[in-house]
This record gives sequence, C-alpha cells and structure tokens, in this order.
Amino acid sequence: MSEPVQVCAACGNESADTDPHPRCTRCRGLLEIRLPPPPQRGPALRALFDGRLAERRGPPASGVWRFAEVLPTAGSHILSYPEGNTPLLASSAVAKWVGVGADELAIKHEGHNPTGSFKDRGMTVGVTQARRVGARALACASTGNTAASLAAYAAVAELPALVLVPKGQIAAGKLAQALAYGARTLLVRGNFDECLELADQASERLGVYLLNSVNPFRLEGQKTIVLELLQQLGWEPPDWIVLPAGNLGNTAAFGKALEEARAWGLIDRVPRLAAVQAEGAAPFALSFRENFSRPHRVTPHTIATAINIGNPVSYPRAVRAIRDTNGVVTTVSDDAILEAKAVVDRAGIGCEPASAAAAAGTRRLTREGVIRPGERVVTVLTGHLLKDPESITRGDHPNQPVEIDARLDAIERAMRG
Ligand code: F0G
Repeated sequence: MSEPVQVCAACGNESADTDPHPRCTRCRGLLEIRLPPPPQRGPALRALFDGRLAERRGPPASGVWRFAEVLPTAGSHILSYPEGNTPLLASSAVAKWVGVGADELAIKHEGHNPTGSFKDRGMTVGVTQARRVGARALACASTGNTAASLAAYAAVAELPALVLVPKGQIAAGKLAQALAYGARTLLVRGNFDECLELADQASERLGVYLLNSVNPFRLEGQKTIVLELLQQLGWEPPDWIVLPAGNLGNTAAFGKALEEARAWGLIDRVPRLAAVQAEGAAPFALSFRENFSRPHRVTPHTIATAINIGNPVSYPRAVRAIRDTNGVVTTVSDDAILEAKAVVDRAGIGCEPASAAAAAGTRRLTREGVIRPGERVVTVLTGHLLKDPESITRGDHPNQPVEIDARLDAIERAMRG
C-alpha cells in the first residue's frame, strides 16, 4: 500500500508525509494530506470502525484513532488521552427554540473532549506527527482553545510548548489551562491574525513545530468529529451539519471528511455544511455572498472570542468544503449568540459563546427556510461552558446568585423572590 503524501493545494507540489514544513516549501501554499484508499470499503470499513466501539484501552479506544485507516500513518508514535467519544445529545428545549422537531436536531458536544474543545482531536494527530518527525518544541497562535490543547498534549509528550494569544481577547478558562499545563504563554499586543503571522515566522526562525490548523495533520484529526457523528447515527447521514467558523480549519476538515466518507463508501449521500460566523468577524460570509470571487479580510469584533478572526487561514480549503457539500455560510449577531447560549445553558447542556453561534445559526437558517421542515440537523458545539465563565453573566438572561445571611428564613425569602 502506498504512503500518504502532502500535496500543495496551490501549486500541486508533493512532499513526503514526514516533511515537517507547515506550508509548501515552493510557494508557501496550504498543504493537504492525500491518503491511500483504506484496505476495506463500505460495509466492511463501517464494521471495522463499529467493532472498535467496545475498546477500552490504547489508541483504538480513542474517538480519533478508532478511525486509523482513514488517518495518516502514525505507527508507534501515537499520543492519545484518549480523546473524542463525545456525546450526541437530544434536547427538546433547544430544538423548540431553534424551530425544528425534537427528533430532527442532534447536538454533537465537542466540549466533552479532555481539554474541553474539539481541538484535542486535531492535537492528538498533530503531536503524534511532531513526535514522528522528531520535533523538539511545539508552538501555536490561538484564540485560546488550541493553546489549551497544545499545552496539555505537549505536557503529556514531555515537549516544551510556546503559545501566542491576543492580550485581553482570550477567555479566562483557556488562559488558565495554558498556564496550568505549563506552556510558555505570550500575551501579544495585537489580534489573533497578528499572532498567527508571528507564530508562522517564529516557527521557521526558531525551528519549532507549528501546530495551528495551517498544519494539515491537525485537520486530519478534526475529520473524526464528522466520522464519529455519522457512526453515532448508524451511518445514516443527516441533511445538515452546522458548525461555527473562525479560522476555517474545522470547515475544511468537515468537507474533507465528507468527501472521503463518500468516496470510501461509508455514506452514500453527503450532508450540507452550514458554517456560522459572528456578524462582527465574518470575512467568509462576505465572500460566500459574492460567490467566493475573492477572500475578504476584516478587523474582527465579537464577544465570541474563539472566532474573533478577520483573516482566516484555511479560506481556500473551506471554499472547497462549502462548494463540494452544496453548503452555506451565514452570520449571527452577538445578541443572538448570547440568547442561544442562554438557551443551551438552561437546557443543562452548556457551551461557550462561539459554540452557541452554531445554535443561533441553526435557528436563523430554519427561520429563513434554508433548513426545510423535516430535515435532520446536527449542530456542533465546539467548546465547554466553563471555558468562558465571564460570558455567563452577560446578555439578557443572567441568573445572578443571591446573597443571604446564614439563616433558614433567609432561604425561604430567597425562594419566594
Ligand atoms: N469554536 C471554538 C470553541 C473554537 O475555539 C474555534 C477556533 C472555532 C469554533 C472555530 O474553528 O477556527 O476551525 O474555524 N479556535 C481557534 C483557537 C482559532 O485558537 O483555539 P475554526
């Protein structure tokens, strides 16, 4: 069987899967992993993946490495928590608010990963690859979750980690994680887009391995969000998959996962992707409205700090994902994000603001009739409620604590009021 190769999406240059450069060495274009076809296809491949669901130990117990046949080769370098295996939830309260029937909406909660976001799925593959190529240190720029994930996986791998985050624009839980796991954490006086440019340059100058979603191995891991949700649905694809979009790594990964899943007979029909951006950080939505005639760059401003991104790096890959899946890109206001967050939180599920954008986007698309009555939707929540505790007291629906004296009648009074 042939090996995976890295292919430049811009100039077509091919490099070995062990080449450690994060971009094409000829034209600095984005790289993609081209995988050899898996040994089995269709029902046999599904059965292989399903057979691993009972695994309790080692990489096959991971919701990422369970799908090893459709990931790049990793051999003995695998570094896994394990991650993935996140729940697919039903909620009549959220479905009602969104405007769809209770059995038409499933919520894939990626906040249930080891560090509380979907980033762990990309990181297990990225850090595994870093070990494979003998990297001595790891780095990323981040709005917070990638930093938290990189910091944890680097600590497990016993490799030094460097993270660049925009000062004042990162949620408290994420900063706490990066620091606690021991990453060298730089608060950059600038926004995420500036952090990413710096990290890109620094990784080259300092010879550290870059683990932003520029890195195609990260995206390979993130494909498994889609594979796992398809598996949870008995390989019966939904009509729509709705996700929040910032730097567009996940949108690109979802598109690749669906394309491969169809090519290899895991599914016979491709769901439509809906990427949701915050109104104040919506360069991809602007391009979508112009039929992707050109990329846009904006100065971003949204309370959903995870997706406060104005110059998304995976733009060309994400355009392909939306085109290939007959997908759409939409926007939601910060108020709509906070309202969605309050609904998801009160339903006992909870998520961070960027994830709530997906719920708000699902509602918008349903109201506009883009998602049609009776269609089945999976909405992906990307990060855990506790990532951004400060956002809980913002918006129209804050549930404030009530201070009382240490007396029983005070409790009675508080319960009446
Ligand atoms: N949701 C959450 C919770 C995120 O942390 C991110 C991205 C996204 C959605 C958007 O995903 O960038 O692939 O389009 N967070 C990155 C970070 C940028 O640094 O943690 P995307």
